[in-house]
Amino acid sequence: MKAKTPSQSTTINTEVVLPNHTNHIGNLFGGKLMQWVDITAAIAAQRHCGRVVVTAAINHVSFDNPIKQNSVVTLNAHVSRAFTSSMEVFVDVYVENTSTGAKTKCNEAILTFVAIDQNGAPLPVPPLEPETELEKKRYDGALRRRQLSLVIAGRMKAEDATELKALFFKD
Ligand SMILES: CC(C)(COP(=O)(O)OP(=O)(O)OC[C@H]1O[C@@H](n2cnc3c(N)ncnc32)[C@H](O)[C@@H]1OP(=O)(O)O)[C@@H](O)C(=O)NCCC(=O)NCCS
Repeated sequence: MKAKTPSQSTTINTEVVLPNHTNHIGNLFGGKLMQWVDITAAIAAQRHCGRVVVTAAINHVSFDNPIKQNSVVTLNAHVSRAFTSSMEVFVDVYVENTSTGAKTKCNEAILTFVAIDQNGAPLPVPPLEPETELEKKRYDGALRRRQLSLVIAGRMKAEDATELKALFFKD
């Protein structure tokens, strides 16, 4: 299968925080943001592989700054690495000051999607070829994050997680 670049899967979704998206203190409800993150990331994964995809794991989400009602929120997703049937996707979330156009990063999320056939069985996906420095950094860290996710999900033994061991133990 021909490799694809992260820019080929880039997906940008812009939303405005309406009253029904907020929590009791007037900020964007975390669950609503997760919905936007999941759908934006799923489209990026679908663009990479050209298949139906399902969310296999939400590997990381950070809520760094509260997002106020009426804010304009932009979610920017791209595939950061592809394995056999699974793809890691990064989503960067920005809040825009519509008067100045300045964007502040508020959140980051990392998710894993799997391409499936009509019976729900995993299908192979194209490899990913990172281009920019940031894409290369995210690509390099993806194997470590995959092993951590599989260990937490009980799908890999901790002793087989070579990338994690390399982080914590020296020979
Ligand atoms: C995700 C799913 C398709 C995996 O199916 P499976 O029969 O367990 O398949 P496998 O064990 O071969 O795993 C398939 C891939 O998923 C990856 N995977 C599964 N769980 C994972 C996890 N928690 N973290 C990271 N990767 C995971 C595997 O590493 C494998 O990747 P690879 O092919 O690139 O090596 C299946 O578990 C499923 O359908 N889950 C429900 C998905 C869903 O409903 N999501 C929410 C709504 S969209």
